[in-house]
Amino acid sequence: MISGAKNAAVAILPAVILSDEPCIIENVPNISDVRISLRILEEMGARVECIAKDTYRIDASCIKKCCVPYEIARKMRASYYFLGALLGKFRKARVSMPGGCPLGDRPIDQHLKAFSALGAEYTLSQGMIDLRADKLVGNPIFFDVVTVGATMNAILAATKAEGMTVIENAAKEPHIVDLANFLNSMGANIMGAGTDVIKIRGVDRLRGTTYTVIPDQIEAGTFMIAAAATKGDVLIKNVIPKHLESITKKLEKIGVNIEQFDDSIRVTSDGNLVKANVKTTPHPGFPTDMQPQIATLLTLANGTSIVTEGVWEQRFRYVDELRRMGADITVNGKVALIEGTGSLMGAPVKACDLRAGAALIIAGLAANGITEIEDIYHIERGYDCMEGKLRALGADIEKVTVPDDSMSDSEKKVV
Ligand code: EPZ
Repeated sequence: MISGAKNAAVAILPAVILSDEPCIIENVPNISDVRISLRILEEMGARVECIAKDTYRIDASCIKKCCVPYEIARKMRASYYFLGALLGKFRKARVSMPGGCPLGDRPIDQHLKAFSALGAEYTLSQGMIDLRADKLVGNPIFFDVVTVGATMNAILAATKAEGMTVIENAAKEPHIVDLANFLNSMGANIMGAGTDVIKIRGVDRLRGTTYTVIPDQIEAGTFMIAAAATKGDVLIKNVIPKHLESITKKLEKIGVNIEQFDDSIRVTSDGNLVKANVKTTPHPGFPTDMQPQIATLLTLANGTSIVTEGVWEQRFRYVDELRRMGADITVNGKVALIEGTGSLMGAPVKACDLRAGAALIIAGLAANGITEIEDIYHIERGYDCMEGKLRALGADIEKVTVPDDSMSDSEKKVV
């Protein structure tokens, strides 16, 4: 059963700030990035109540502070959504420069460009971003690169601006559509989300709503690949098959069988996997957040595959870890050449970021012998009970806590 989408939830939770009434958000994944977002809301004065499994009632009408402190914000990239939400509601925001996965240079110039286009001024000092606007006025915004975060932030800041904002070269990911649907359900007027031109007619006030976060496309894709890597037969429930199209097509090319139903997908594999070339691009292309997982699968395929990273500067840092497990991968800049070896060996390895960690779990499941993965806090940022879900499918995986004096890090997963 797939949980709610991390990258939708971490935008929708700050977006609640824009509403003058309480909102109920369902299908919120139980992951550390979400817990951080909820904590930030509480720190600012919002009332946050867990009213059922994965369901929160949030009343942000009592927010008094417009500041997200460094100690919390630095833990998570998505803390930058508080900039757009606070600016949209209060015309001011003070948020620490964001943290998140180390994937190379992660500038926020396009976010700032969007806020400026709407009439805000910003200053950067002491690691904090300060935004201020006497009033926000709708305007055209053209992004120089396709960016998920800046598209979401522009939507958040423009929802209550005066007049019409037109975002061009917008990102089209399912979580952008989800944020727009959420805001529209509160009374916003956002058109075109999911295309590269989004039009937002500003409204004065937003009401409360009850909204269900979409299923996590990347969690689903990760389980699809885990099934493919282990000659599995897995029915993955609570998915939107349309969101998985690029992953499904690539897996079929690799020799994996996929059956699609209304809200579930069945993945079977006999282990006969063939090489493929993969290039990550913004949606609807193959997602960068699936790149480490598919590269891991291709180490088990026959032949030489080429994986090209088209979004991030440095998303091959996990390759050294896979090599420790017997993978034959050569990286040259943004291109990895993978010689399929057909098998992997268990080894002690370290997760260097979220999806790298997920890839190492897949490698560990497929490998002969025991794999110990260190620094699993990365994985817990974005996967809701991954080891529990895998154990339910028959995997031999356990989360163990290692005493502090024996290692620098306190938790591991053993696969
Ligand atoms: C989001 O990051 C996701 N994070 C990432 O998921 C994901 O990899 C990425 O989108 C691409 O799909 C969240 O949603 C919280 P971008 P984001 O802005 O918004 C450049 C995961 O594993 N850029 O779309 O930060 C940037 O350098 C994470 O779940 C600028 O140049 O990514 C990159 O090359 C990791 N200037 C490209 O755009 C800017 O101001 C895409 O980045 C912003 C971005």
